[in-house]
Parts: sequence; C-alpha cells; structure tokens
Amino acid sequence: MCGIFAYVGGRKDAISLVRDGLKQLEYRGYDSWGIAYPKNEIALLKEVGHIPDKILEEPSSLALGHTRWATHGGVTRLNAHPHLSSNKKIAVAHNGIIENFEQVVSKYDLDMKTKTDSEVIPLLIEYFLEQSYSFEESVRRSLQELEGTFAIVAISSAHKELIVARLGSPLIIGETKDGFFVSSDIPALLGHTKKVLVLNDGEMAILSGSLELKNFYENVSLDPSFIEIDWDVSTAEKSGYKHFMLKEIMEQPKTILDTLQGRIKDHQPLLPELEGINPKRIIIIACGTSWHAGIVGEFLLEGLAKIPVEVEYASEFRYRDPLVEKDTLVVAISQSGETADTLAALREAKKKGAKVLSICNVMESTIARESDIVLYTRAGPEMGVASTKAFITQLTLLYLITAHYASKNKTLSVRQVQDMCDDVLSLPRYIEQVLDEKGQIEEIAKEYFESRNALFLGRGIHYPIALEGALKLKEISYIHAEGYPAAEMKHGPIALIDVNMPSIFIATRDTHTYEKVLSNMQEVRARGGKIIALATSGDRRVTELADHIISLPRTRYALSPFLVTIPLQLFAYYIADLRDCNIDKPRNLAKSVTVE
Ligand code: F6R
Repeated sequence: MCGIFAYVGGRKDAISLVRDGLKQLEYRGYDSWGIAYPKNEIALLKEVGHIPDKILEEPSSLALGHTRWATHGGVTRLNAHPHLSSNKKIAVAHNGIIENFEQVVSKYDLDMKTKTDSEVIPLLIEYFLEQSYSFEESVRRSLQELEGTFAIVAISSAHKELIVARLGSPLIIGETKDGFFVSSDIPALLGHTKKVLVLNDGEMAILSGSLELKNFYENVSLDPSFIEIDWDVSTAEKSGYKHFMLKEIMEQPKTILDTLQGRIKDHQPLLPELEGINPKRIIIIACGTSWHAGIVGEFLLEGLAKIPVEVEYASEFRYRDPLVEKDTLVVAISQSGETADTLAALREAKKKGAKVLSICNVMESTIARESDIVLYTRAGPEMGVASTKAFITQLTLLYLITAHYASKNKTLSVRQVQDMCDDVLSLPRYIEQVLDEKGQIEEIAKEYFESRNALFLGRGIHYPIALEGALKLKEISYIHAEGYPAAEMKHGPIALIDVNMPSIFIATRDTHTYEKVLSNMQEVRARGGKIIALATSGDRRVTELADHIISLPRTRYALSPFLVTIPLQLFAYYIADLRDCNIDKPRNLAKSVTVE
C-alpha cells in the first residue's frame, strides 16, 4: 500500500534519491506518486500513474516522496501526496488513516482543499507555527491531536529538518555517512545502508545532520537503538530474471535452507522459542496466502502432533468474539508483519489472554514486535506482490513446529521425528527437480492462457494448495479461478465443466485420498472437461485420465504440499506472462495491506 521515502543529509541529489526510493517501493502497489522539496516555498512534483524514469534534476539536500494507494478520495493529482499547508511552506506525506480528521478540521477551522484525510496534518502544523511554536513543537502538537494510524514525514521550507513520526504504520530510518534515509520498508533502504532504526508507536525523530528521537506524547528524549539487517541487496533486485515473481519462485530451494538454518540439530527440531509453550489448542490467524499456509499447518499439527487446530480468517476472528481458553496458542502468520486484519486479530487474542506466536518474514515488523514469540521465515525481501517464497517458508516453519510438538507430545516416535527432519533437509533437492521441468509447465500454459475460468482441485492436505493455486492464477492473470476440495466439485462447481474449463487436479500418490481423487477426475472427464494433473512420476492411471501431466518426484505425505505448490506457482506465472500482465504489480493489489 502507500509508501514513504525521504532523505536529508550532505548529498545534493535528494530528489533523484527519493525518486529511486519510491521506485523501490512500487511493488507495494500505488496509483499516484509525489515528491516535495524546499525552495522559497515547497516545490512539488506529483502525478497520477507511474513514477517516470527521469525526473527534474535540481540540487536539494532534503526531499520527501510518497506513493499513494487510494483509500479516502479518488485517484487524482490533487489527492496525491505530499500535501501542503495553505501557505505552501509545509509538506507532509502520510501513510495510514486519520480517523478524527473531520473533528480536527472543525475544531481548528482548517481549510481543506483535497478529499483526503491526510491534508489535515500540514494544515494543523501551519496552525501551530502561526501560534509561534517551533517547527518541531508544531509537528508534535499536531501529532497529539490525531487519532487513527499514521506514519508521517514533514518538511518546512524554512527549516533544514525532516521530522518523522509513527503511530501504527511502519517507518524505518536508515543511517549512512552522508545522512538519513526514511522509508516505509527495509528493502528500499538496502541499497544505501543496513543500519536501521525501526520507529515505535508514539515516537518522532528530528533528522538533520544528527538524529533526535522523542516520545511525542510525553516530549521526552529517547536513546535510538539501531539494528543491522542481514538481508542482501541482491535479494531486492531482479538479477536477470524477467520478473521478481519468477526469481522468487526459483529461489525457493535456498530460502527453505535459510529457514531451516540452525533449527535442526542431531536430526531433531531445535526451536528453543517454543520451550515452555505446551498448547492444548492452537488457533491460526492469517489472510490470503498466509491463511492457506495455516490450513496446511492444521493438517500437519492435528494429524501428526495431535493438537486441535482451527484456522481463521484474521478479519473474521476479530469481530466474532472468539473463545480463547487458557493454554490456547494463537499463531499469527504474516509475510509482511503489517497486515492490518492480522494485527487487529492478534491484539484481540492478546486481550483475551492468549499467548501469540507469530510467523513473520519482516524483521521488527509490527506483528513480530507485538507477539510473545516470533519465528522469522528468513525468506529475504519478497518483491513480487504474489507471495511465493514467503509461502514456502511459512510451510517450512509449520512443518518444524509440528515436528517439535510431535516429539514433545510423543505422538511420533523419535525415529519418525528424525525422518521428518532428514526429509525436510532433502526437500530443496526435490524442488530443484520440479523447477528444472519449468519448460514443460510453460508449454501447458500456452494451451490455456486464453481460458476465462479454471478450477483447482485437491483433497486433504492438498486442498489448501488447490486454493493457493487458484489465488495465484487469479491475482496475477485476472483469470477467474476457484479452488475446491475435489469432492466438493460435485456439489455445485461441476455445473461449470465443459471443454473450455480446465481443471487442475493435485493427484499425487502420497495421500490416502489418491483413489478418491481419481474418481473426481473421472467425473470431469465424463463431462468433456480438460484435465491438467499433478501426478507422481510414472503414475500410469493418472496419465490415462488427464490431458496433461506434470510429474513430481515421489515424496512423503508431510512434504507433499511443498512440492505440489511449485508447478502451480509456475503455471500462474507463465499464463500471466503470456497474457502480458503486470506480474509483479497486479492491478488493485498491494503487497502490504495496512487497512482493515
Ligand atoms: C497473495 C498474497 C496475499 C497475502 C495477504 C496476507 O499472493 O500475497 O494474499 O498473503 O495479503 O499478507 P501477509 O502475509 O503479509 O499478512
């Protein structure tokens, strides 16, 4: 969603630094952009649409920029950020929502020109400046008036400072020898520095040649604690691939090994974070792809560790007054760690006394910081909007958590847990084999890229992967796709089957529902439907029923969801590429969904 990038320091190319930073934030999704920098008044560049490759070159050592994903007010140049005060001497970029902006406007009799809630901020700062407060104090007083969520960056044409603040929306400061960068996320900073300060709620920083950190409610100074990020800048670049999505699909063998690093010892899971946590029940909360990972987790944890599990849409959990007993562990799964629905559900769970374990990819993200325990997925920055490598690492952690509790609860023997650990270490090799066959998947995609609908069907532990396959296809290719447990097909979706409707079946031999899936394939075939089947290598029975086969190495039940995920990601990717879609930035989608 919206992104902020800003610079203050000794360099004179602040405008192009900010433009480049906004380009790095493009993957989050946006519909307009803007940059502000001080001159006599504030100079402003802003447009609807894409950030241009070239931008006005004018020396400046201070600039702020914003990419907007519209919430309040339409997609217009006027509504694009940064917003200015009436005298055009203050500029502010804002992420989040100011819930009480109408009250503030009438309390201070402010003259709003746009349809956004954000414009209230520069107007309020201007109001306090006119009361003879300093710039810093005017910003601080303004922040105290605001309710809702925000990350803001403010500049004034009369001051050489960048003032930033956070309440509920992420904001990161990066320190370099030439000055400070400010960004909504870490990947955009990696080209400049790995030394970052993640602002906490209620904090503001005054940046010029130095940094001063304060709590804006109490006006007390704080000690900044910078951390070193271990992400590599190349992980946020395409490295010769046509799209981030393809690069991230291809990276998955490595990301699995990164996730496992130091978490298996002597053939046993090593998750010290879970010591002393012995849940009687687990509730998994998540959205979208992360929710699909949660359902795989349900099959693994219930089936192998014998812990009752429920998986809830985070957006529903929050509003249905759920029962959370003592000894319930709530597991929040979120790649970004900033998803508003998941964050709200997490807070609700904590209010009800639950312990919260989060599975997150982004270090120091809000969900990670508000959880009792965090397990990081270590997928590195995921730049494609469609989640791929983050999903596979979420599965990896859920698998390890299962091995941990299966060992602890003695629901599997020492030998079986050892096998689980050995198996997952060999998983990257199997995934390499599937990736090596990507040309074959591209050929199949060539036959179906003009389809208007598609069904994805799988049973048991493959059912959430069918949902994920359908989600991947619809979000990046705009083909309508539905995922179903295969047996549900005959309770309605079967009406859609005809020669124009491909059904993608997950029909590998590694689950006890294999025979049943074959029957479901027969039902589609009997109605003239086209079948693409994911099958275990050498399976003649599936070959006879399907129009196209994607062969997968034989593996064990618990690893099967990992392997079947890969061809579905590639299938969606090639179809979208053949349709010439904007794969890394699909329309209307945002990487980090920070509104409820
Ligand atoms: C789909 C996708 C989304 C996210 C969802 C939750 O490819 O990426 O469905 O999974 O918005 O996001 P996180 O995991 O960041 O909480």
